[in-house]
Amino acid sequence: MTASATLPMPVWRDELEHEYAALAERLEPLVPCLEIPLHLPWIDAINKLKKQRGAVIMAHSYQSPEIFHGVADITGDSLGLAQAAAECDADLIVVCGVHFMAESAKILAPEKTVLIPDLEAGCSLASSITAADVRALRALHPGAPVVSYANTSAAVKAESDAICTSANAVQVVESMGAAKVIFLPDEFLGRHVSSQTKVELVLWNGRCEVHEKFTAQQARHAREQFGAMLVAHPECPPEVLAEVDFVGSTTAMGKWLEREKPARVALITECSMADNLRSQFPATEFIKPCNLCPHMQRITLQNIYASLRDLRHAIEIAPEVVVRARAALERMLAVGRRETV
Ligand code: 13P
Ligand code: SF4
Repeated sequence: MTASATLPMPVWRDELEHEYAALAERLEPLVPCLEIPLHLPWIDAINKLKKQRGAVIMAHSYQSPEIFHGVADITGDSLGLAQAAAECDADLIVVCGVHFMAESAKILAPEKTVLIPDLEAGCSLASSITAADVRALRALHPGAPVVSYANTSAAVKAESDAICTSANAVQVVESMGAAKVIFLPDEFLGRHVSSQTKVELVLWNGRCEVHEKFTAQQARHAREQFGAMLVAHPECPPEVLAEVDFVGSTTAMGKWLEREKPARVALITECSMADNLRSQFPATEFIKPCNLCPHMQRITLQNIYASLRDLRHAIEIAPEVVVRARAALERMLAVGRRETV
């Protein structure tokens, strides 16, 4: 049994119903209604502890609705969270997301304590490549700069010239001013970027275990059966991207919904992300398919509470890695968010 599972349950008070009425209303369409009274005592306890500690909670858009809407001070995609960490003035940051996101926050704010509630919250892309792999690629392609996706370890970032996310990958690649760029580790994102630039990309064979599972047949089914417009994350396979109306990062999908206001849409991406957007666009009907990221799901209200209470698990990165990885991340921040919607 994990330590957080042994925590005493914060107790229900009748006043919670009144104090969190607006939140409960927001959560009602997103989580089973029987769960809301179970979440509220934890949400209340976390919000109190967070205030006591002077902490800031950052949550990625793939976090479950009770975390995203209930306890997060800052929400966003991986670029948004990195930008927020660089600018944040709290000394304690809790990252509700996966390990590489907490590492990016620590690299950009090394003097702060950065906590992740579960150290096992990984990412199939980040674990697909090592620093030694990057050095071997450089030896094979002398002179070609390395652009790494944010979904990589601190050690891989330290071997890279620049970092990108899906919100600025094309622009970061082009900012290198090279005819050939080593782009890693997501092969599908790399192929999508290749289709939008003249720069030659050397790709790696990393895959997101959540997005690689979508099929073109599922996309066609959503359109034909439900008349839905289709939006997909660029980590999906190329044959899925070929079927959709818009390909974009997590944030760009939200902006596209704002602009197009479709009656029905299928978001071909992570489920919680679709749930979190659903509450912002009540006039749009959201059609599945979706897949849950098992790593994002490791973060729970219970382990966020334990993280704040016991100041665990603090991210530690060797100073020489921080310095090199920070230079690569800062190159990305200088490019900023450039995706066109
Ligand atoms: P974003 O960069 O869009 O936040 O996506 C991160 C991620 O892990 C997608 O699967
Ligand atoms: Fe990694 Fe995919 Fe999960 Fe994103 S959804 S954190 S890329 S495994």
